[in-house]
Amino acid sequence: MTLALDAAAFGTLAELLRARSGLVIGPDKIYLLETRLAALVKREKLAGLTGLAARLRAPGADPLAREVVEAMTTNESLFFRDAKPFAHFRTQALPRLHAARPAGTRLRVWSAAASTGQEAYSLAMVLDECRALLAGRPVEILGTDIAREPLARAREGLYSQFEVQRGLPVQMLVKHFAKEDGNWRIAPALRAAVTFREWNLLADLAPLGRFDVVFCRNVLIYFDQPTKARALDAIAAQLAPDGVLYLGGAETVLGLTEKLAPLPDAPGVYAPVPRPPARGLGEPVPRWGEPALA
Ligand SMILES: C[S@@+](CC[C@H](N)C(=O)[O-])C[C@H]1O[C@@H](n2cnc3c(N)ncnc32)[C@H](O)[C@@H]1O
Repeated sequence: MTLALDAAAFGTLAELLRARSGLVIGPDKIYLLETRLAALVKREKLAGLTGLAARLRAPGADPLAREVVEAMTTNESLFFRDAKPFAHFRTQALPRLHAARPAGTRLRVWSAAASTGQEAYSLAMVLDECRALLAGRPVEILGTDIAREPLARAREGLYSQFEVQRGLPVQMLVKHFAKEDGNWRIAPALRAAVTFREWNLLADLAPLGRFDVVFCRNVLIYFDQPTKARALDAIAAQLAPDGVLYLGGAETVLGLTEKLAPLPDAPGVYAPVPRPPARGLGEPVPRWGEPALA
C-alpha cells in the first residue's frame, strides 16, 4: 500500500521523530514511514500519511505522536549480541569495579535501549555466573527504552524458539529458561534481577542516578550527529568516574564528545575522560589503565 505523502507532511513527521526520539528519517526512508505507520493510519481512518501529519499538527495530538514514535522504533535485539561486550563486562569491568568498591555497596548496570530485554537478561546471566566473585555484593540492573510495547515484552520475559536460538548458549537456555507452550520463559530469579522502565535517552537522565556500567548499544546509529553528541554527554554525566560504557559495533564517541574515550584493545568500550580534580576534594578516583583500589 502507498500512503499519500506531500513534502509538508513529510517535514512534519520527520521533525516530530527527530525532536521526540532522535530518529533521523531522510526522504530515502519514506518507505519506512509507509510500512510502519500503515496500521496507525488505517486504525485512525486517516487520509494517508498526509492526513496523519495534519492530525499531529492539531491540538491534543500528544498520545498519537507517542504512538508514531513507538511505531517507528526498530526493536531488533538478541541475547549476548556480539558476544565481546559481555565477555569484557565479565572478565574486565566487573572484577575491576568489584575491587574498587567498598564491600557490600551496590553496583548499578544500565541497559539504556533495552528493547525486548535480551541485553538486560544477558547481563543478569553474566552476573549470575559471577556470584562467587561478587561475594554477595548487590547489583541492580535497569533496562530502559522509549517504546512501551517492547518493554512490556521484556517484563513478560517470554521468548520464542527463534529468539533463544540467536546468541544464547544452550547451557544458559537450560539453566535460566523454562519451556512454555513452545516458547521459553525466563526464570523468576533472573526476571526479578532486572527492572524495566520507560525512559527517553533525550530526556533528563539525572533522575536515573549514577551507573557503574552502561550498555547503550545499537540505538545511537539512528540519531544524527548533534543528537548522538547530546545523548553521549548525558550518559557520561550519569557514569561513575571509573565506570564503563559499551556501544554497538557501528557506534563511537569519537568526534562527538570529549567526555568519553575508547579503552585501548577493547573495541566498543569507553570510559569517562578524567576531569582535573577540584582543589581540596581529596584523592582522584583510579581510572581505566591505572591500578584499581585494593
Ligand atoms: C535496535 S534496538 C537495540 C536493543 C539492544 N540495545 C541491542 O543492542 O540488541 C534499539 C532500541 O532503541 C530504542 N530507542 C530508540 N530511540 C530511543 C530513545 N530516544 N530513547 C530510548 N530508547 C530509544 C528503540 O525503541 C529500540 O528498542
